[in-house]
Parts: sequence; C-alpha cells; structure tokens
Amino acid sequence: MIDDKKVLYSGMQATGNLTIGNYLGALKNWLSLNEEYECFWGVMDLHSLTVRQQPADFRKKARNLLVLYIAAGLDPKKNCIYFQSHVSAHAELSWLLGCFTYMGELNRMTQFKEKAAKHTDNINAGLFTYPVLMAADILLYQTDFVPVGKDQKQHLEITRDIAERFNGIYGDVLTIPEPYIMKAGAKIMSLQDPAKKMSKSDENINGSIYLMDDPDTIVRKCKRAVTDSESEVRYSEEKPGVSNLLEIYSTCLGKSIEEAEKDFVGVGYGDFKMAVAEAVISILKPMQEEYNRLQKEKDYIDSIILENDEKAAYFANKTLRKVKKKLGLTEKPRKA
Ligand code: TYM
Repeated sequence: MIDDKKVLYSGMQATGNLTIGNYLGALKNWLSLNEEYECFWGVMDLHSLTVRQQPADFRKKARNLLVLYIAAGLDPKKNCIYFQSHVSAHAELSWLLGCFTYMGELNRMTQFKEKAAKHTDNINAGLFTYPVLMAADILLYQTDFVPVGKDQKQHLEITRDIAERFNGIYGDVLTIPEPYIMKAGAKIMSLQDPAKKMSKSDENINGSIYLMDDPDTIVRKCKRAVTDSESEVRYSEEKPGVSNLLEIYSTCLGKSIEEAEKDFVGVGYGDFKMAVAEAVISILKPMQEEYNRLQKEKDYIDSIILENDEKAAYFANKTLRKVKKKLGLTEKPRKA
C-alpha cells in the first residue's frame, strides 16, 4: 500500500516493435488504473539484454517505449513510468532472490524453453534467471496486482513462490502479488497462424500488426489474415482465425464478443476484415500522432525520466533495505 492505495506493477521489454497484442493485452488495460491504484510501469531494458542488442538502436528503442507509454495515454504525473536500469535495486534484489530460487523451478519456465530453442547460439544465464529479475521488479514495490497478458502467468506464479519462500523464513517482508489478467485481449494470436501468439519477434511480419504500422499496412495485413472456408463471422474454437479477428475488433472498440458478432450478421469475410482494420486504425492513429508530437519534446521527456526514476528508486530502495537487513547483511555505518 502507498497512501492507502494498492500497488500495481507491470512493464514491457524494450525489444522489437510492439504489436497490438502488447497494446490490447497489456497497455490498454493500464490506462485509467491510476485513479484507483498506485501505478508503476517499467521499461524493462535489463530484460532485453538477454538477447544481443545493437547499442545505438537499443538506446532509441528503450526511450521510444517510454514515449509510447505516454502517447498511449499514461499520464506521467500520475503514473510512475521509468527505466528498470536506472534503479539499481532491481539488479541487487534479483541477486538476493536468486539465492531463494531453485534451478528446477527455472527449468520449467516455458518462455525459457522457447527462447533457448530460438537462440541456440546464445543460451545465456540471464535468459535462465530472467524470471528472478522479474520477481525482483514486482516485489521491490510491494505490488498487490500485476496486469499482464496470459503468457506471463507462469512468471507471476514463480514470483509468488519466491516471495512466499522468503516470507516463510524471514516473516512478512514481501507482499504476495496477484495476477490481474483482463479477459478481453489477454491473448491476441498471429494473423498468419492463429495457433501462435502474436509476437514482436515473429519472423513473418504479416502475422503481427505493429503499433507504428500505417493504415495501408494495417488494411493489407487484415485482408491477408488467415480465416477458414466458411463464411460466417462467429466466435468458436473451430474458427481460431475469425475468433482472433473478432477479439481484436471487440477489444479495440470496447465491445463484448456478442455485440461484435451482431455487427457482422450476414456480412462476408472481406467486409469483416475491413471493419477489423478500421477498428485498429481508430486506436492506433491518435496514438501515433501523439507519439510523433512527443518525440519533439525532448526536455519534457527528460524531466519526466528524472522525476519518475527518483520516485521509483525511493520505493524500491525501501524494500531492498528491509530485505538486506532481514538477511543479516552488514549495514553501512552512518557518517558522524
Ligand atoms: P513482453 O514485453 O513480452 O510483453 C509485454 C506485455 O504484453 C503482453 N503480451 C500480450 N498480450 C496479449 N496478446 C499477445 N499476443 C501478447 N504479447 C505480449 C504480455 O503478457 C505483457 O503483459 N517479462 C515481461 C516483461 C516484464 C514484466 C516485469 C512484466 C519484466 N518484468 C514485471 C510485469 C511485471 C515480458 O517479456 O513482457
């Protein structure tokens, strides 16, 4: 709790182009939560280093992600938006929690298995201990809820296990966080292969709609989306392509799936796909315009970074000090 408000924490990796999966599954749900909760949103640049980055490009991508958070509608005066790497407590707590995490637990992580299979030439220890750093991110802020897409649920479970193990030994030190997964948009699938999650690292660029795609590209990708040989727009497990498009359409417009289905009674797939594209464009266009405007406001963005880094560090260090004390690490003597 901070000032009687429960704490929310989440973030995104600063790698690749964000997709509408990231937006609909996460970012969109973050907007307006700050009224009820104390919100922290990290640009997870340390996590991005588990895959080799090109420094100049990486620097830009991380800053662009922070700008995008603001362009999407997160008010930086009411939400703490900051870079993970600017708050050294993340790396420190990650080490400490690593001593409370078992190899067997980390071995079971599906994201590790997937990434290790994809980057066979660089299966580094960071990739393996990735969930420990994520646990540190969350636990540093005494987080109550973590709004994420379904794919992050396993990481949340291990975070809870680590925290419960720590508390079991040292008392009530860390708040046990709960996942906060919205039903709508929790798992947006690839437009080319609806059995696969839409992902920013997908090699087939037609499978993903990126947040910076222009309207023509969005229309083209929607038109090419894989559907089925029927012609009825209906949500069903047997129709994964159409169901995914319905999910995208309804989440963009804030409608229920039933309402969305009603919009397409007697409508063919061609017109349906155009309507999906228009729904996506209606969300992305204003965000892109705001993003382009903010890119010119360098001083403003710098001031936001400075202010929010400090706020995040204040809360993070409070928890870190407590954890270190419980562990019996020697405290620094105070200067006379
Ligand atoms: P990342 O960067 O892969 O994804 C960011 C958020 O987007 C959600 N997401 C999706 N939701 C629906 N459909 C999709 N196709 C889709 N693809 C991605 C993810 O669930 C996530 O919420 N490990 C995290 C970053 C992280 C983090 C944290 C998150 C690091 N520390 C602490 C929360 C709390 C990750 O890689 O997310």
